Amino acid sequence: MFLWGTATAAYQIEGATGEDGRGESVWDTFAREPGRTRDGHTGDVACDHYHRWREDVALMSGLGVNAYRFSIAWPRVLPLGSGEVNERGLDFYDRLVDALLAAGVQPVPTLFHWDLPQALEDRGGWLNRDVCELFADYAATVAARLADRVPLWITLNEPFVHMAFGYAMGVHAPGRFLMTDALPAAHHQLLAHGRAVQALRAAGARQVALTNNCTPVWPASQEEPDLKAADAYDVLHNRLFNDPILLGRYPDLSAYTPSLDFIRDGDLATIAAPLDALGINYYNPTRIAAPTGDGLPFSDAGITGHPTTAFGWPVVPDCLRELLTGLKSRYGAALPPILITENGCSQPDTPTEHGTIEDEARVDFLDRHIAAMRQAMAEGVDVRGYFVWSLLDNFEWAEGYHQRFGLVHVDFATQRRTPKRSYHWFKEFLKGQNTDT
Ligand code: FCB
Repeated sequence: MFLWGTATAAYQIEGATGEDGRGESVWDTFAREPGRTRDGHTGDVACDHYHRWREDVALMSGLGVNAYRFSIAWPRVLPLGSGEVNERGLDFYDRLVDALLAAGVQPVPTLFHWDLPQALEDRGGWLNRDVCELFADYAATVAARLADRVPLWITLNEPFVHMAFGYAMGVHAPGRFLMTDALPAAHHQLLAHGRAVQALRAAGARQVALTNNCTPVWPASQEEPDLKAADAYDVLHNRLFNDPILLGRYPDLSAYTPSLDFIRDGDLATIAAPLDALGINYYNPTRIAAPTGDGLPFSDAGITGHPTTAFGWPVVPDCLRELLTGLKSRYGAALPPILITENGCSQPDTPTEHGTIEDEARVDFLDRHIAAMRQAMAEGVDVRGYFVWSLLDNFEWAEGYHQRFGLVHVDFATQRRTPKRSYHWFKEFLKGQNTDT
């Protein structure tokens, strides 16, 4: 069955950050610090999904999706990251899973979507290798409760973005500015993934995947310095996270770090445990030029000549085809089936005087990206699912509530949900789908 779904993440929608025994996460801490998020927005209330999940499941059932990718908040399940389990946290996801199944929607949980328990950050976060084992324990705890009803699991969301934004450039939680010294945070996330794959399978999970954020990299010119820089960017954004998982080895990292002593014997074998699917989040391509002297081995040359989203991200649907066929030619038989675990766009989405949201640009975005995915499938790429980011407008990290990605509009003052035109379009689209293809 081809999975057609929508995606969300815990900190972006749940709210209720202080309820039912949930512990603090790095995002609670970060968002509270002045100047970290736009207008000081936090996820304290977000979409209040923790209380309104029934309504949100009904929205999905009305939409006609057969799958829902959400994330489980580690600090709801283990308030201190390890040790005592908070059963009330698990109860929440237990109820959600049952409601989804009753609505004919397959639950697809992600175990880590950036909300590390603050207690683990206090011990060094992803720079501390011990966190890998604790993640495996957490995975086992959640799976012991849910694996009887949840067939497909995703370990991590976008370890690249978490490393780059959270540890290298400090624009996401935990707000560290380590530049290339952030590399151990990549390795430890990947090792945690590998250990979690073992723990999930031991607890009865039938299928396990990991979600990477991937971008086609365009050199700004065919001149040697630009080509070299583009290759360096491709290594750090794409290959650093795909090669170890799919090939059991890292690309050459000697240009970025004097020492790889954080990689120990046996780690790569753990990281490369076979997967049932690779999740791909795709938003836009990246154009890269030679370095400008700020210490990085590349610079962002920007993309012109294409429409942009409210975020300023270029809209280039054919790049989804380029990305998928590129993965297939790079990894060949080592590439497992692919799930597009996120794709979507932010738009202003201001309600009309009649209260409707006429997000034609999103309809066009989704329509053209789905067509590009199908083109890649026609060219031989095995894609098994597509999830729209996002079901609801939500807390868009450092942008707070300023970027709206939802098929459903959320009025954050009243929590009123209004399906946008794109929701109605996707609903009609789904009626026409044979879920076997
Ligand atoms: C991805 C994140 C997701 C959301 C979208 C817009 O990088 O996984 O949480 O913020 O971008």
